[in-house]
Amino acid sequence: MAQSVKGTRDLFGNEIDWFQRIEDTARRTFKRHGYGEIRTPILEEIEVFKRSVGESSDIVHKEMYDFLDKGQRHVAMRPENTAGVVRAMIQHKLLASNDPQLMYYIGPMFRYERMQAGRYRQFWQIGAESFQVATPEAEAESLVMLYDFLQELGLKQLTFSINSVGTPACRPAFYAAFRAFFEAREAAFCEDCHRRVQDNPLRVLDCKVPTCQAALEGHPQLVEHLDDASRAHHARLKEILTVLGLPFEENPRLVRGLDYYTRTAFEVLSADLGAQSALLGGGRYDGLVKQLGGPDVPAFGWSIGLDRLAMLMQRLHGDAPREAPALLIPLGEAATLKALELARAWWALGVSLQLETRGTNLKKALTSANRQGVRRALILGDGELEQGLIAVKDLATGDQESWTWAEVPARLQSRP
Ligand code: HAM
Repeated sequence: MAQSVKGTRDLFGNEIDWFQRIEDTARRTFKRHGYGEIRTPILEEIEVFKRSVGESSDIVHKEMYDFLDKGQRHVAMRPENTAGVVRAMIQHKLLASNDPQLMYYIGPMFRYERMQAGRYRQFWQIGAESFQVATPEAEAESLVMLYDFLQELGLKQLTFSINSVGTPACRPAFYAAFRAFFEAREAAFCEDCHRRVQDNPLRVLDCKVPTCQAALEGHPQLVEHLDDASRAHHARLKEILTVLGLPFEENPRLVRGLDYYTRTAFEVLSADLGAQSALLGGGRYDGLVKQLGGPDVPAFGWSIGLDRLAMLMQRLHGDAPREAPALLIPLGEAATLKALELARAWWALGVSLQLETRGTNLKKALTSANRQGVRRALILGDGELEQGLIAVKDLATGDQESWTWAEVPARLQSRP
């Protein structure tokens, strides 16, 4: 029997219920803040990711699903969506004016990762990106939106972990200090870190190998090498977060696995999720639009892993509340035709209703309704058909009453 590809899975039942609730909450919240949706293709030219996420990043270096298509174009299935959104913003000249552009997306991403809990090869992200906004206040606006979204989902134990990775101009001094530190204890670092310290020393800070993390004790910090403007930016963001009551802690090792960040980089940790995984991450990426061939505009954004969020919701709240609609059970051919007509009129009025169309007997229909968690069965037998009535059975209590067809929509809508 064919199975889904390793690292991918089918979403249904409780999991899709949570996905939908989360997506609905996200859309509602983002709309309130003036964000519009953008949907970009899953396939992009590989250069879009190489030139943004970075060739030295694990994502591009090891985890990309890339291939030559039948026209010999080198394409990749997007491992993230900031690069694709930036590509689209440039392509459609959406950044020609200085007006802020606020965009959100929801969709699947692909990374050939090692399998562990909460990590998949096809996973979903919800993300928000804002363009033309350079201030710490703009970051705060985006972080408030994010925090309120997570609060609305009932998540409480959240902490922003923040850092400033400065601008490319502050990095050479930091790199020099860091390489000197590294060389003094290089035997303690893994082979990958020896490559990383040459390509991009920031990646060493991000290494997950415990001995590397131990060897980093006392390492030079980026925040000590910030230029004045970046230092003031970072201080102002912390001040705003404090005033707004958004819980945060500083993490000088937080550099994130993607190359495009400038100044603010952050993650959100959830005490409920457990140690190894951030619920989401993001930051400022002021140079990226220009790097991909667009105008020199500042930008900020984040993405949250929907799979992890749904897992957390299930763990915290159990099954998503599900209301199985009432079931209309016609008995016999004439009743079935009438039931189709009635149901169609009621659906048009916005009533939720399932229709039993298998022609099974009442007992079987009620048993399967019970199994599906249906609360009410509407039974249309010959007697009811003649009188314009319907027998309504409450499957929890066994109580039965009789309604006229005309009263069905209002009564079902007030209590399905
Ligand atoms: P990222 O940290 O690579 O950032 O991914 C964001 C979130 O996606 C992670 O925190 C995690 O929840 C989820 N995620 C990543 N990989 C997997 C996986 N294999 N399985 C399940 N969930 C996963 C970005 O993608 C940036 N584009 C964020 C951003 C937006 N920065 C600026 N704007």
